[in-house]
This record gives sequence, structure tokens and C-alpha cells, in this order.
Amino acid sequence: MPLVRLNKYLSEMGIASRRESDVLISKGKVKVNGKVVTEMGIKVDTEKDKVEVNDSVAKDREKLIYIALNKPKGYVCSVKPTRMDPNTVLDLIDIDERIYPVGRLDKETTGLLLLTNDGTFVNAIIHPSSESEKEYEVTFYQQIPLGAIFKLEEGVKLEGVRTLPTRVKKIAPAKIRIILREGKNRQVRRICQKVGYPVKSLKRVRIKGLSLGNLKLGEWRYLTKKEVENLKA
Ligand code: URA
Repeated sequence: MPLVRLNKYLSEMGIASRRESDVLISKGKVKVNGKVVTEMGIKVDTEKDKVEVNDSVAKDREKLIYIALNKPKGYVCSVKPTRMDPNTVLDLIDIDERIYPVGRLDKETTGLLLLTNDGTFVNAIIHPSSESEKEYEVTFYQQIPLGAIFKLEEGVKLEGVRTLPTRVKKIAPAKIRIILREGKNRQVRRICQKVGYPVKSLKRVRIKGLSLGNLKLGEWRYLTKKEVENLKA
């Protein structure tokens, strides 16, 4: 029987601090099982007792979840499987809470994908005005010359609109790292195709200050509080 003091229970529910809860209790604003309680220090059974404040039931605030996944190929960033795409990234994360992916990676793209149930967090990362940096490792079928890299850096016209300038670093003859600050559909694949170098494989290695690190393909972990704060900033 999980018994806790009423003021502690109210503060854990996010309703008020313990001191403010004492004030609510003394003013007769809190009911336990339908009866007003004004007695300080009363304990409640968190599983059985019904606690109301100002006549509405004190419910647990939604627990906010933040996850980093190393997405493997073959999984779609969607919450609903379809006949064409039966494997979704949610199949890889076995938790009870309902979460959803923050933006998308193509089915064939691997790497860092965030998942959450916090809408503000999603906005801080994918809203175009945030211009959040996303870094990708791109492998080509053939060596890529400097001329093509310069074109990628300048920005490329897609459907008549020029993409923002990017930063590109060549890390092997047929491999680059590219940093985008926008998230047009299949942007990396389309701009590389446009400059004449179709993508062989694509991996996202960083979102803002968060790197993929050593998560293996298909592995996930919870973000730390600090990482969440930095991503929201
Ligand atoms: N750009 C792409 O082309 N694909 C992705 O999955 C992400 C960025």
C-alpha cells in the first residue's frame, strides 16, 4: 500500500509545491475520497484514494520521454505500419508510453533519430525557423570531386528554390560529411543527385549538439536531462 503524505502527493503530481499544497489543504480545497480534508500530515494511498483539488481529480502529469535511436535500414519513421511498410521505428523501442519520431529519416537512411511525446521538443528541433543543424555522413558510388562539393556548399536549386548554403567536409575519396540547417524531403539524396553524385548510403551522425556516439544499429537510450535542455535551446 503506497502511503504518502498528501502535500507530497500533490507536489509529485505537479499541482503545487509542498508548501502551496499545505495552503490548499488548509483552505479546504482538497478532497480525499469525496471528503474535504483540512488536517495537515494526512496520508493517502496513491493507488486507491481519489484526490481532488478544486473539484478536479489530481492526475499524474504525462511523463515526458526523450529517446535517441540508431535507426537501421528498412524501418519507416511513422507510427502506423502499412502493408508496404510493415516495420516502423517504434517496433525497435519496447516501452509502454506512446512516443513518436522527431522528423523523419528515409527508410534506407540509418543513424540518429530522436523520439519523444513532447511536442515542444519536436518544434525546437524541426521547426524551419530553428535552423537546427543536422549532420550526415554520405557515401557515394564513386569519388566526388571538389567542384561538386563546392556546388553542394553553395546551395542547390530544388523545384526552383535554392537550398541554404551548407558546410561540407570530404572524409574519404567517396565520402563526405554535410551539415544541413533545413529539412526538405530527402534533401541530401536530392541535392547530391542534382550535382551528379547519387548517394550510395546515408547516415545521420548529429542533431544540434547531440552526436550518435556509440549506439549500435537498432540500439536506443534515454537522453539525459542536460541533453534534452541543450536540444531545446
Ligand atoms: N536527407 C535525405 O535525403 N534523407 C534522409 O533520411 C535525411 C536527409
